Amino acid sequence: MSPYLTLLVLLLAIPSMGSLAGAIGVNWGTNASHPLPPAKVVELLKSNNIAKVKLFDADPLVLEALSGSNIGVTVGIPNSLLKSLNSSKKAAESWVHDNVTRYFSAGHGNGVRFEYVALGDEPFLQSYSEQFHPFIIGAAMNIQIALGRANLASEVKVVVPCSFDTFLSESGKPSGGHFRPDLNKTMIELLEFLSKHHSPFFVTISPFISFHQNKNISLDFALFKETAHPHKDSHKTYKNSFDLSYDTLVTALSTVGFPEMDIVVAQIGWPTDGVANATSSTAEIFMKGLINHLRSRSGTPLRPRNPPIETYIYSLLDEDQRRTATGNFERHWGVFTFDGQAKYHLNFGQNAEKLVNARNVEYLPSRWCVVNNNKDLSNATAIALEACSVADCSAISPGGSCYNISWPRNISYAFNSYYQQHNQRHDNCDFGGLGLITTVDPSADNCRFSIELRTSYSASLHGAYLFLWTVLLMFSTFTCLSKFT
Ligand SMILES: *[C@@H]1O[C@H](CO)[C@@H](O)[C@H](O)[C@H]1NC(C)=O
Ligand SMILES: *[C@@H]1O[C@H](CO)[C@@H](O)[C@H](O)[C@H]1NC(C)=O
Ligand SMILES: *[C@@H]1O[C@H](CO)[C@@H](O)[C@H](O)[C@H]1NC(C)=O
Ligand SMILES: *[C@@H]1O[C@H](CO)[C@@H](O)[C@H](O)[C@H]1NC(C)=O
Ligand SMILES: *[C@@H]1O[C@H](CO)[C@@H](O)[C@H](O)[C@H]1NC(C)=O
Ligand SMILES: *[C@@H]1O[C@H](CO)[C@@H](O)[C@H](O)[C@H]1NC(C)=O
Ligand SMILES: *[C@@H]1O[C@H](CO)[C@@H](O)[C@H](O)[C@H]1NC(C)=O
Ligand SMILES: *[C@@H]1O[C@H](CO)[C@@H](O)[C@H](O)[C@H]1NC(C)=O
Ligand SMILES: *[C@@H]1O[C@H](CO)[C@@H](O)[C@H](O)[C@H]1NC(C)=O
Repeated sequence: MSPYLTLLVLLLAIPSMGSLAGAIGVNWGTNASHPLPPAKVVELLKSNNIAKVKLFDADPLVLEALSGSNIGVTVGIPNSLLKSLNSSKKAAESWVHDNVTRYFSAGHGNGVRFEYVALGDEPFLQSYSEQFHPFIIGAAMNIQIALGRANLASEVKVVVPCSFDTFLSESGKPSGGHFRPDLNKTMIELLEFLSKHHSPFFVTISPFISFHQNKNISLDFALFKETAHPHKDSHKTYKNSFDLSYDTLVTALSTVGFPEMDIVVAQIGWPTDGVANATSSTAEIFMKGLINHLRSRSGTPLRPRNPPIETYIYSLLDEDQRRTATGNFERHWGVFTFDGQAKYHLNFGQNAEKLVNARNVEYLPSRWCVVNNNKDLSNATAIALEACSVADCSAISPGGSCYNISWPRNISYAFNSYYQQHNQRHDNCDFGGLGLITTVDPSADNCRFSIELRTSYSASLHGAYLFLWTVLLMFSTFTCLSKFT
């Protein structure tokens, strides 16, 4: 076999491997001070056989990197755009043109294989109050019309990612499920819209948050442990928190007249830092339990042969700039660390028991910023807390991986995070003369003082791009030719 033929055979294998794991995708967020370069992330997705990805916006660099990958893409619209998309059909048309049409490709072409446009990032979260509700339906209709005008409506569906708190059950039992009363009208309009366009219901299911907020959900029940005490709902038996939440939603949908509505689990995962029980080992148990459950296709007591049509793991990577309003764990949902290194063993695709790490990641030099113990440290805590308003101090918060490092090492942690986020600039390790740059790694045990990524895009990445495009072009030529032989 010539090397080219070998390559083509290898590439032919990618889509078929993808389809086996087709129902499981990941959320790829980029709210990080030093995001992993998009081309590296796409490589990471491919090497782990991840065939679908959900984005929170329409970053051109991300969409360019996904071009030609044949990965199914859900592109997000930030909440801040909902108002203008509701009030203006023209704004919706521009959005679709600039962020979808320009990159679109249905099959093996060089473009992006868009599957969904996700309107808003959990716009119904209770903490947003009524900030975004009034715009959702109008914006969804305008985007739908714009997709129709661009001849994309049959391939790209409009969906609205709903947060875990859009539905509830006071009794804790699925049979008591209903939508939050303040959303009742909007939800019915949304479901009518989705139903009319054959679009699924996108929703976050969060056994982690259920466990956190609900004294009656045990850790074992959240983690799919066989030994967990089951919950009974008349003659139905629930063995895990996922099924319980899912069927609570199924009841809510049935109650308002949509018992057959398809469900996509848009976000589900387990964080690994920032609060008790958020560790890599619990996350590993949860993720394995979830993936085995989805693979068994056994469904839930209310939908025994109708499991979620797709499930998007939350999240691919840690993001050090996520809002921490709901908890310090928000920056640690990644299956991979910020630099694309697996936190635990997991099998996304088939066979391989291990996740494949990002390769050739480029870091800033091996330098850290720590507190100078020879100085008067009476103001150090105040200075560190100020640094933490910008830096990522979630690991030194209660329950975090660095919570038990003693003072003043926690000050060093804060200084270092700030220094790394600012590209190790010398003057960002000053802190009123209390900072000191060192080449000795201050990490210990589970507490890691990280070095940030070098984010300037290097020429070698462009080379890799060109290579990929060339190979994909050859690949499409080859498949066309093979049809005539
Ligand atoms: C949404 O847009 C429509 C059409 O422009 C407008 O009538 C309506 O007032 C808008 N809704 C809100 C809440 O602004
Ligand atoms: C998407 O399209 C809108 C409207 O043209 C534009 O303002 C926006 O910058 C584009 N990109 C993203 C990332 O939303
Ligand atoms: C929600 O709407 C449904 C259907 O119109 C109705 O039966 C139910 O009583 C409403 N619930 C609330 C809390 O408004
Ligand atoms: C709490 O969970 C147990 C099962 O572990 C169940 O029997 C009981 O009904 C639940 N109580 C409430 C109030 O949800
Ligand atoms: C969960 O957190 C609690 C409180 O810190 C702790 O006692 C328990 O051992 C943890 N369990 C696991 C499995 O991490
Ligand atoms: C993303 O990061 C910015 C700061 O860079 C912050 O203002 C914003 O709230 C973050 N978004 C989310 C969803 O965390
Ligand atoms: C600590 O801060 C106070 C108030 O800003 C200042 O007066 C004092 O000199 C500082 N102490 C040291 C040791 O820097
Ligand atoms: C912090 O706790 C971990 C286990 O939770 C332990 O392995 C480590 O030694 C502790 N570090 C310090 C500095 O006490
Ligand atoms: C560091 O630890 C000390 C002592 O536990 C605490 O008072 C201080 O607030 C911590 N500093 C930060 C930045 O978390």
